[in-house]
Parts: sequence; structure tokens; C-alpha cells
Amino acid sequence: MKRNLVLLGPPGAGKGTVAKRLAAEHGYLHLSTGDVLREEVAAGSELGRRAKSYMDAGELVPDELILAMVRERVAGKSGVLFDGFPRTLAQAQGLEGIAPVEAVIFLELGREEVIRRLSARRVCPRCGALYNLITQPPKEDARCDRCGAGLSQRDDDKPEVISRRFEVYMRDSTPLVDYYRERGILVRVDASRPPEEVYAQVVRALCDDRP
Ligand code: AP5
Repeated sequence: MKRNLVLLGPPGAGKGTVAKRLAAEHGYLHLSTGDVLREEVAAGSELGRRAKSYMDAGELVPDELILAMVRERVAGKSGVLFDGFPRTLAQAQGLEGIAPVEAVIFLELGREEVIRRLSARRVCPRCGALYNLITQPPKEDARCDRCGAGLSQRDDDKPEVISRRFEVYMRDSTPLVDYYRERGILVRVDASRPPEEVYAQVVRALCDDRP
């Protein structure tokens, strides 16, 4: 299964949830552009300063900044799992010159469920573990099961920003579905199913897809 993969889908579709497990169990190099940007913001770097206002508003960070960031991290590598990238046609075209993509998993989920999931998402600021107060709650209230740190809510998981992120996804990212379908590498997965089922669908799709 070690090819370059893209996980495509709306905010909250479960890209990060699937990617972390695929990386842990199948050795992919997980590149989440959202995670990298949040690290840059936390570090107060030049890129983080430039990206922050876009992220806080639920808008996309400009393509040229994203492509430079991706190129720096993956040039010459294989088995990369792109999570949340590409998000525009310009990014998809730019990626062709950085790393060829062999499969695109499209996690399909509607607006209502996106809002429900993101409103209830909690993250561990220390180890990055993901929780959901409704579907994947921590064992102990507001504490990470793995490392015990207090859980937090992402700044862009406020209701008004979630709605904007979904609109931006519909406008800028849905054209990628046709882009990759026409190339014959798009695999649709019903992301409304429970996490275990979604993961099983993804693994099955990747195995079935082998020549
Ligand atoms: P980014 O961090 O990429 O956010 P996103 O794409 O909006 O996706 P999320 O991380 O919100 O959701 P996810 O699909 O990973 O779902 P998760 O697994 O967490 O981007 C943030 C911002 O950075 C952007 O708005 C933009 O400003 C900027 N940015 C990033 N990349 C960019 C790019 N390429 N170009 C330009 N700008 C960029 O799951 C969500 C919740 O649901 C969790 O609580 C989880 O526990 C739960 N859950 C997961 N799966 C299931 C399931 N099957 N059933 C029930 N609950 C589930």
C-alpha cells in the first residue's frame, strides 16, 4: 500500500482520524498541512504569522505559501499521505511537480454532520490525539487518555468559522473531485459511518485498487 495518497473531504470528515491510523499501521509519512500550519503559528514563525489570519477566519492560506511548505517537506520522499492538501486546483497542479499521487480517498460527508462533529471535537495539545465529545469521548472528563494532558478546542472550531470553512470547501475544493475522477484515481468512501467502518472502507479501497 506504500504509494502517495491524498485524503480529500470537507472539514471534519475524518481525514486526520484516518490518516493517523494509516500512518501508524501502514508506515505512511503523514503530512497534514493544517497541523504544520498550527505548529508554525505556535512557533511564531514568519509562515505562521502570515497564515494565522486566514486560518482564524476559516479561509485558505495562499497557494504559493502552501506549495512551498509542502515542497520543502516531501521533495524526494515516497509513501506520503497528504491530509488536507491539495485544496485547490492550483495546489493539485503544483503537487504534480512535487510528488505523483496514485490514489485519492474522498471522504464524503454532509454539512449537518460536519457541524455536529467539529462542534464536539477536542484535541490533545501535547500528543495530538483526537476526541469527540459525542462519538469518541475521552475516558476521563476533558483529559487525554494517552498522556493525561487537558484537552482543548481548536480556535477554528467555533460555529461561525465552521460554517465559513464548509463554504470555502464547497467553493474551492469540490472541483478536485472531478479533477481526480477524470484521472481515474478517485475512490469514494462514505464518511458518515462509524470510525472503525470508515477506516475499514479506506483500507479495502487501497487493497482492491492495486493492479
Ligand atoms: P485543517 O487542519 O486541514 O482542517 P480541515 O480540513 O478543515 O479538517 P479538520 O482537521 O477540521 O477535520 P478532519 O477531516 O481531519 O476530521 P477529524 O479527523 O479531526 O485546516 C485548518 C485550516 O488551515 C484551514 O481552514 C486553512 O485555513 C488552513 N489550511 C490547511 N491546509 C491548507 C491548504 N492545503 N491550503 C490552504 N489552507 C490550508 O475528525 C473531526 C471530528 O470528528 C473529531 O472529533 C473526530 O474524533 C470525529 N470523527 C472522525 N471520524 C469520525 C467518524 N467516522 N464518525 C464520528 N466521528 C468521527
